[in-house]
Amino acid sequence: MHKHYTGLIERYRNRLPVSANTRIISLNEGNTPMIQLQNIPKMLGKEVDIYVKFEGLNPTGSFKDRGMTMAVTKAVEEGSQAIICASTGNTSAAAAAYAARAGIKAFVLIPDGKIALGKLAQTLMYNATIIQINGNFDQGMELVKEVANHAPVTIVNSINPFRLEGQKTAAFEIVDDLGFAPDYHCLPVGNAGNISAYWKGYKEYALDRVCGNRPIMCGYQAAGAAPFLAGHPIENPETVATAIRIGNPQSWALAWAAQQESGGWFDKFSDEDILVAQKMLSQYEGVFCEPASATSLAGAMQDIKSGKIPEGSKIVCTLTGNGIKDPEIAMQQCLDSKPVTIDADLDAVKRAILDNL
Ligand code: F0G
Repeated sequence: MHKHYTGLIERYRNRLPVSANTRIISLNEGNTPMIQLQNIPKMLGKEVDIYVKFEGLNPTGSFKDRGMTMAVTKAVEEGSQAIICASTGNTSAAAAAYAARAGIKAFVLIPDGKIALGKLAQTLMYNATIIQINGNFDQGMELVKEVANHAPVTIVNSINPFRLEGQKTAAFEIVDDLGFAPDYHCLPVGNAGNISAYWKGYKEYALDRVCGNRPIMCGYQAAGAAPFLAGHPIENPETVATAIRIGNPQSWALAWAAQQESGGWFDKFSDEDILVAQKMLSQYEGVFCEPASATSLAGAMQDIKSGKIPEGSKIVCTLTGNGIKDPEIAMQQCLDSKPVTIDADLDAVKRAILDNL
């Protein structure tokens, strides 16, 4: 019997905290493609299978939709009329979209001037109330936690446990798709909710014997925003990958446990390394993710080259968000390949082709 896909809560409802009576707020998120890289492994000269889980193909263009369908479903179930979050851009877009779908209000606190243009545009279109602060994500997060004690708003940042419940389904999808868990799972780490959610998902599946193994979790940060490498929160995070411009991750303990329990590690990468990985994915694989997302591949490439991730490994890199969200950085990355402008005649077009073959 044909069954129309209606989102990850329906698909995994027996592993999620919903009942038969729960009104599900969904945009048919999840079910994102696992794309095996074909050209980059060859360029590395190593025998490895690298898959990217392209979360940029969720309804608002990032993995946040997985957490938001759960968080907003539960907020509505509990009678909430308004949600709030601090965000580097993607959480705010997802919160705004799911609030629109549910018919409730969304308030979002974002660092003024530090979120990618596409994320701002979509959050405006979904009609959230945008509050820009002269401060960074971490300051916004503290304010959100405080204001929730003084106003009737439900926090939908990943400190809301339903967020991680929704996001753990990405690990389920990977196992269901491959038939096993990968040897290594690489992902960018900012506020540290996602690495915690994946680990929860893999542990659940392994415990129930849906898979026989659990991956080693590799968390990669931007060098200017790498509290897990410093071993403590940092004051003024800075990186071109604005999505992960975070110095005081809220899921510190859970992420640390994921790394410890899985035998994994954290590492950090320069903005340049991150942008190189982003361009490589676009140029050699046809997969356009946002800068923060490419941190997972920057890390995997380094660790494959060094042998820390050995040949024969099966690796999944989560690509957390869509490249179209951040057109400004993309344009800056391509200054050397400006479009040519020519007269509208056949000879000029022919010349433009022959010059560039
Ligand atoms: N990649 C992207 C594209 C993100 O937007 C984020 C987080 C991360 C990675 C890091 O995930 O926080 O679970 O470790 N973005 C949040 C936001 C903070 O507000 O959109 P994390």
